[in-house]
Amino acid sequence: MASEAAPASDVAAGLGAAPTFDTSVAHVARVYNYWLGGKDNFAADRAAAEQAIAAFPDIVLSARANRAFLRRVVTYLVSAGVRQFLDIGTGIPTANNTHEVAQRLAPESRIVYVDNDPVVLAHARALLTSTPSGATSYIEADLRNARQILAGAADTLDFGQPIAIMLMAILQHLSDDDDPYGVITSLMAEVPAGSYLALSHPARDIHAAEMAEMAKRLNQMMAEAVTFRSHSEVAPFFSGLELVQPGMVNVPDWRPETADEAASPAALWGGVARKP
Ligand SMILES: C[S@@+](CC[C@H](N)C(=O)[O-])C[C@H]1O[C@@H](n2cnc3c(N)ncnc32)[C@H](O)[C@@H]1O
Repeated sequence: MASEAAPASDVAAGLGAAPTFDTSVAHVARVYNYWLGGKDNFAADRAAAEQAIAAFPDIVLSARANRAFLRRVVTYLVSAGVRQFLDIGTGIPTANNTHEVAQRLAPESRIVYVDNDPVVLAHARALLTSTPSGATSYIEADLRNARQILAGAADTLDFGQPIAIMLMAILQHLSDDDDPYGVITSLMAEVPAGSYLALSHPARDIHAAEMAEMAKRLNQMMAEAVTFRSHSEVAPFFSGLELVQPGMVNVPDWRPETADEAASPAALWGGVARKP
């Protein structure tokens, strides 16, 4: 059971600063943590998460399918030779965090995590358990501020070598007014050929009625507004890049490793693309 105040150990993990966070309003990192079966959430988060479940019961399996997608994507990228990862919208640590998957396969992998929620910062210690030959670091920043992210990431990543930019289940928190397409263009412009963009995005056109009702409820209860997008709205994020097989699909259809993974319900467009 989560306490209503930041546990001392978590505060201590906050990279030296004591993060403060508002537990009276639901926040997506903690709502998502609840869907994943985690304990790092508060009453307001659980209420919003339950409202979402009532609208779209498969959101729990969809969130788990997204984590399985992340694991398969990192596995694929390591096999493709990538050793540098910029994971924006990290979330509260859970099983198979990006650095754990990458460094299991390639211990020299270097990972930069980015999130704008102080609750994630409070858990950063769990993200900074790098292998000795690799590296992990954490930046508290907003996806809308690509310049700050790129400047901070350069302390850990070599921008002369390929980098995988990962945007898993975060772009729905940028409205069209935030110019999410421009943000991706800015990020991808700074990485060399052979780099990758990997993303997942809640779908507006899979289980459309349930997803619309869930979005409405989350937007009434959660601090971070959501904009779910259709296949044709997510596809342009990959503009100018080469999608790897099987292209942009509902995430369980992206290189599932087991029959259970392939059969999972989900409503998220996901894909991986290489910068030529
Ligand atoms: C749904 S969780 C996804 C976590 C993880 N990427 C995954 O797929 O399992 C979204 C995360 O993005 C973060 N986030 C939302 N909007 C953001 C923004 N504008 N800048 C940085 N992080 C943001 C939230 O704090 C949260 O941790």
